[in-house]
Amino acid sequence: MRVLGIETSCDETGVAVYDSGTGAVTARLFSQVALHAEYGGVVPEIASRDHVIRLVPLIRETCAAAGLDLHALDAVAYTAGPGLIGALLVGAAVGRSLAYALGVPSIAVHHMEGHLLAPLLEPDPPDFPFLALLVSGGHTQLVRVQAVGEYTILGESQDDAVGEAFDKLGKALGLGYPGGPEVERLAASGNPGRFRFPRPMTQRGGLDFSFSGLKTHAMTALARHADEPGVRADIARAFLDAIVDTLAIKCRRALDQTGLTRLVVAGGVSANRRLRSRLAETASACAAQVYFPRLEFCTDNGAMIAYAGFRRLAQGAGSPSDLSFQVRARWPLAELTAPDAAGSDI
Ligand code: KG4
Ligand code: ZN
Repeated sequence: MRVLGIETSCDETGVAVYDSGTGAVTARLFSQVALHAEYGGVVPEIASRDHVIRLVPLIRETCAAAGLDLHALDAVAYTAGPGLIGALLVGAAVGRSLAYALGVPSIAVHHMEGHLLAPLLEPDPPDFPFLALLVSGGHTQLVRVQAVGEYTILGESQDDAVGEAFDKLGKALGLGYPGGPEVERLAASGNPGRFRFPRPMTQRGGLDFSFSGLKTHAMTALARHADEPGVRADIARAFLDAIVDTLAIKCRRALDQTGLTRLVVAGGVSANRRLRSRLAETASACAAQVYFPRLEFCTDNGAMIAYAGFRRLAQGAGSPSDLSFQVRARWPLAELTAPDAAGSDI
């Protein structure tokens, strides 16, 4: 079965074809980062308009790269939320129309379910159940994943998401957007001993997170030491260390509490190399296995949507092809359900 995946929830136009027979993925991405750079963050209207321009050519290009005619597609999956409403509408309108024209089913995919399942595209994928740490620009969640669609949120951020905290600190440090990769780069030359920032919410029990105080702490240190040499790199380093430590402590706690032996890490921040190596150590200390997406499938991409669409289709999801559709700017992951239950589609 060949499923086309379309991702347009934010500032990346992502398209991919997943072939369930061979496991092959052909993915193409157009990143809007340069378009938003001068504003220091994503401008929703610019994002929507650019998806309109890029999406159809990118679908053609992806199918050509996969050696497929559009008529060889068996289904079309698109991100239906959460995300920027105008950006989502572009992917949904094109996805639904294409499915209608081809006479194949379309699947409305939850963006975070896409992230969560992305590591299953790798060789030697995890079996269910597993613990998932989802770390993106909008979400920081620990989730017990019993099966596709059976998600229990064990903990989540009470304020900023990790990626958001990286982006805000990056801006304060005068770095480009998105801040995460830039802070990681700057931190590499930082002195780890100069500042020590708090590991928020690790002293009390529980699996929730809070990163806004840590971000403020880093910004206050920056203001106070602004003129000292090397301070930007040292702050980036202390911030990264605090984030990585905090996530590792919570993952360890969640593995201990649940008795799960598999840890899946996904979402844009899972591209962070320090986080990857630290969580690999944490998992092995708990006799658990850790699973990550390959680097290009950590941040937003079409492959994860094609794959999640395929898994949902295999469970019986997929609307008959009419031209009505809905998208949701907000859509809690916990509202998703497993097969048979109503509401797994939106
Ligand atoms: O999953 P994603 O592409 O989009 C959302 O669903 O939000 O995640 C984007 C987030 C941004 O906040 C970005 O700064 C962060 O992921 N990010 C990173 C790294 N690469 C991307 N954060 C830390 N280290 C990285 N290497
Ligand atoms: Zn994402």
